[in-house]
Amino acid sequence: MTKKLWGGRFQEATDKLVEVFNASVTFDQKLAEQDIRGSLAHVAMLGKQGILQPEEVTQITEGLNSILEDIRAGNFEWSVSLEDVHMNIESRLRDRIGPVAGKLHTARSRNDQVATDFRLFTKEAALELADLLHGLRTVMVLEAEKHLTSDEGQPVIMPGYTHLQVAQPILLSHWFLAYVEMLERDESRFRDAAKRMDESPLGAGALAGTPWPIDRFATAEALGFARPTRNSLDSVGSRDFALEFLAACSIATAHLSRLSEELILYSTFEFGFLTLPDSHTTGSSIMPQKKNPDVSELSRGKAGRVFGDLMALLTVVKGTPLAYNKDFQEDKEPVFDAFETLAIILQLHIDMMPKAKWHAKVTRRAAQRGYSTATDLADYLARKGLPFREAHEVAGELVHLCVSQDRQLWDLTEEELKNAHELLTSDVAQYLTVESSANARLSYGGTGLERVREAVQDAKERL
Ligand code: ARG
Repeated sequence: MTKKLWGGRFQEATDKLVEVFNASVTFDQKLAEQDIRGSLAHVAMLGKQGILQPEEVTQITEGLNSILEDIRAGNFEWSVSLEDVHMNIESRLRDRIGPVAGKLHTARSRNDQVATDFRLFTKEAALELADLLHGLRTVMVLEAEKHLTSDEGQPVIMPGYTHLQVAQPILLSHWFLAYVEMLERDESRFRDAAKRMDESPLGAGALAGTPWPIDRFATAEALGFARPTRNSLDSVGSRDFALEFLAACSIATAHLSRLSEELILYSTFEFGFLTLPDSHTTGSSIMPQKKNPDVSELSRGKAGRVFGDLMALLTVVKGTPLAYNKDFQEDKEPVFDAFETLAIILQLHIDMMPKAKWHAKVTRRAAQRGYSTATDLADYLARKGLPFREAHEVAGELVHLCVSQDRQLWDLTEEELKNAHELLTSDVAQYLTVESSANARLSYGGTGLERVREAVQDAKERL
């Protein structure tokens, strides 16, 4: 039986199943780097404060560094009976440097230790995801810029949808920029959250602080935190930093699932707006013609597990009394899972989006279908003084006529236009092309070419 680090008041061995149930080392070994950094900062501070002798600090520091090397090299055997990453490392330290290892845990508890490790991890993960989001944002801005000119020199026009019914023509660049906006907010959510995570819980002790003359500001600084947390109970008893991280992951993943859905739909044979690269699609083992958008489908599907991670931790934290509870050990896996899931989705999109080929002729043709410029016909009449509601009615009747005869609005004769309304003359046709429709929308934030050019510039400057 491995001797427990807390074994003093126990006479009987821990039940084997309890040991397995209680252990977190199978997953919290991911925190090994953070754990050792935390211990190094702690022991240095103990030395400076005169709590430990210089030679003790040296011995512990050297021991921890050699363990870190072993872990990095994959030469560390984790033991479930030592429960978690913290006790595995401390126990190894004792094997290596003897009883002086026991002084490391002076003025510290696993409660502030794990809170510190996990905050360090989550803060770094948040910043890593923010950087990846920045990368994808950059790719999407460049795509927006690229599609301002198609092969024919014109901006790429596609149908814009509401209710997934053709609504009005838009520029493909405008569509890209819509995702740029979402990704930009996602990135800032992680950066904001990281600011709130930027406080060190180390030194909060088990829950109430410590009688030792420690310097929490020094350990906070050594670990790259802006300051120590203010309240010891909150320090060991709060996990909202992880919840916020998971909420930000969930929102970003939701956005990526929408992008995925559009890519899946638009790359179907029926739509044919774009072709996804071979490198990011897969074939079928039975149907030779297939090119499946697996990356997009999985990105859409994995949103489910990331939302699940958020729900899992919200449910764990709900109703727990102050301060630390073992329930909180359940905080780690959802964060690891959401982090790894979102990171790979982002990297895949950074690689895939520039390789997708958009088919300008197809998207333009699609934009012409579905009477997408009927609003422009109504606007034409409204500009001539007819109240918009009446103009809408007239345009609606003409759409009905065209639908029943399978014709287009721009094919209507002078006669048919006059019959619909006396203010309607054949010069209306020039307003009914998809180019004129899109480019007329010059309101701030609209899809008119001039506005989109400015928006691309603006988005580039914000990068
Ligand atoms: N493995 C534990 C966790 O992840 C570390 C803290 C244990 N604290 C305690 N009082 N048992 O939460």
